[in-house]
Amino acid sequence: MQELRDKVAVITGAGAGLGAAIAQAVSAEGMRVVVADIETDHAEHVAQEIRDVGGDAQATRVDVGAPPSLSQLAKFAEQTYGACHLLCANVGVQRLGHVDALDADDWEWLIRVNVLGTVNTVRSLLPLMRKQPGEKHIVLTSSISGLLAAPRLAAYTASKYAVTGYGETLRLELADDGIGVTLLFPGGMATTHLASSASARPAELGRSPELDLDDAAAIAAVLSPTAESVVEPSYAIRHLVAAIRENRPYLVTHAPNATEVKERFGQLEAALSRADD
Ligand SMILES: NC(=O)c1ccc[n+]([C@@H]2O[C@H](COP(=O)([O-])OP(=O)(O)OC[C@H]3O[C@@H](n4cnc5c(N)ncnc54)[C@H](O)[C@@H]3O)[C@@H](O)[C@H]2O)c1
Repeated sequence: MQELRDKVAVITGAGAGLGAAIAQAVSAEGMRVVVADIETDHAEHVAQEIRDVGGDAQATRVDVGAPPSLSQLAKFAEQTYGACHLLCANVGVQRLGHVDALDADDWEWLIRVNVLGTVNTVRSLLPLMRKQPGEKHIVLTSSISGLLAAPRLAAYTASKYAVTGYGETLRLELADDGIGVTLLFPGGMATTHLASSASARPAELGRSPELDLDDAAAIAAVLSPTAESVVEPSYAIRHLVAAIRENRPYLVTHAPNATEVKERFGQLEAALSRADD
């Protein structure tokens, strides 16, 4: 999607962190932006910040875990800007813990929001995207956890591997419609990911357990081994606009885990070679 100016972007989870940084980056390219988040005040704040520097943005509430709310988001985009050319399905929630500590509700919630939320965001906006002539693009936020397993992250890792597989299929199937797809794989970022997950967790599941320091240390040892491996979201998306313009299939934000990911690919290659034995 070469031309972004005056086109319309719809971004979920845009009230904070990575989604807010994406909203600001595509606004700087001249896009009109729907800033959607479960936290209405946060979405309003980001939209106002964009307008304050001369951009065009409107905020709306969405809960990506609730399909009717996503239908409302599509209506909002159509009524506000009449289009959606760029869709960033960016919401992902977290519930970390050993597999023994994750109960059925934890699994259901992460799959509902991270997997079905991503799928249903695309399902809801795709009809509006298809109405626009010209190139369009979808960005799905997976994670380094969509490429590499780490302990105490079973539900999150399973959900992000699912986003990876879904995005790869979507890219194959939408190519003929002129809709590109980029999978975004962020590494560790300094965001409100854990806190926003705790507040977005439905009341019927009870409060998120306090952060267990053993869990945090086990995850960090694999995914964020040094202080430098945790970056600001604005840095993480520094190549996103180029990736959209070039329809790159994958964008890895930074790669403190490159060795481990390559080791995994190496193990898969070895298994493929042995399949010929
Ligand atoms: N922070 C990291 O280290 C990291 C690493 C890899 C991937 N990611 C992924 O990046 C994406 C953005 O996370 P972030 O780190 O910017 O976190 P963040 O907390 O800064 O932003 C997430 C936003 O999503 C919103 N949200 C939560 N549940 C929602 C729902 N059901 N419907 C709509 N909005 C909802 C929150 O209110 C929040 O504004 C997520 O998919 C996350 O899994 C984050």
